[in-house]
Amino acid sequence: MNKKILILGSSGLLGSSLRNYFKNNNTQVLCHSRKSDSKFSVDLTIAKDTLEMLSEVKPDIIINLAGMTDVNLCEKNPNLAYVSNVKIIENIKLYLMLKSSTCHLIHISTDHIYDSSNNSHENEVAIKNYYAFSKYAGELAAMSIPMNVSVIRTNFFGLSLCEGRKSFTDWLYESGRNKTKINVFDDVKFSPLSMKSLSKYISLIIEHGPIGIMNLGSRDGMSKADFSFLFIEKLGLDCSFMTRLNSTDLDQYTKISRPFDMRMDSTNFEKTFNLKLPTLLREIESVKEDYYEKNK
Ligand SMILES: NC(=O)c1ccc[n+]([C@@H]2O[C@H](COP(=O)([O-])OP(=O)(O)OC[C@H]3O[C@@H](n4cnc5c(N)ncnc54)[C@H](OP(=O)(O)O)[C@@H]3O)[C@@H](O)[C@H]2O)c1
Repeated sequence: MNKKILILGSSGLLGSSLRNYFKNNNTQVLCHSRKSDSKFSVDLTIAKDTLEMLSEVKPDIIINLAGMTDVNLCEKNPNLAYVSNVKIIENIKLYLMLKSSTCHLIHISTDHIYDSSNNSHENEVAIKNYYAFSKYAGELAAMSIPMNVSVIRTNFFGLSLCEGRKSFTDWLYESGRNKTKINVFDDVKFSPLSMKSLSKYISLIIEHGPIGIMNLGSRDGMSKADFSFLFIEKLGLDCSFMTRLNSTDLDQYTKISRPFDMRMDSTNFEKTFNLKLPTLLREIESVKEDYYEKNK
């Protein structure tokens, strides 16, 4: 690939996997992160610094993963949620507009803006909390750029390559190995992809060009409890450390309004790319292999 690709927020959970994917596929990428070892380490909420960095790099593709993903923190500090999940995109927009850039912005959003009893289509948005609100406002900011924008609503899991940041499956795996008692929710549903698959599809979007707003998840979804039991069973571990509960049974969980059903209908993506997305079971089976490898 001859395009200059810049990943913003590359040191986070998805960023670490995406970087690894590009490395394994011999695709050169430039990586922004706030970590001091990065050549591009600006605070993206500061317009001047963002403008300077982007003007220096002049990317053909920006993949924006930077943002605030902690739902509790967003609720406690809506201003910080706005600054992290909206202002950053406004600053990217400022660069694109000032420089009349034709750069393709691929912005990663979330399934957290859905809550329906079926697989949600792109127009069935339901905002439950400040995280969802700020992510949706970020999408609006991205879509206000006149051209060359892809907004990907997604969720993901898999072995974390990011130091100090655990994924959902890391938490399940470590709890299973240490026999730590945990609760898994029957009443919360989702349709995530593995980070490897998501990285592959981001790469396809780069090749294809802008696609507007699209859901990108596994073909079917399931409850977090079913997911957890399947994952642990596939790893050959004893499941007795997990208790099935409804999230509404836990006071601590209900303090913040949250979506129960974030499953997405990703047929628009399948049609656009003429492919079939994997089932969640297939994704679990593929991710299981990474945990086996890690443990060898
Ligand atoms: N995690 C999930 O399960 C999930 C599910 C659905 C969608 N998403 C979306 O996917 C994207 C990536 O998520 P993730 O889990 O990989 O996030 P993450 O691990 O929290 O990483 C976010 C990255 O953004 C950077 N960042 C935050 N504020 C910044 C700022 N002001 N200036 C520069 N960099 C900043 C962080 O840098 P530092 O490391 O320096 O803080 C970090 O590298 C997010 O947009 C998220 O909303 C995530």
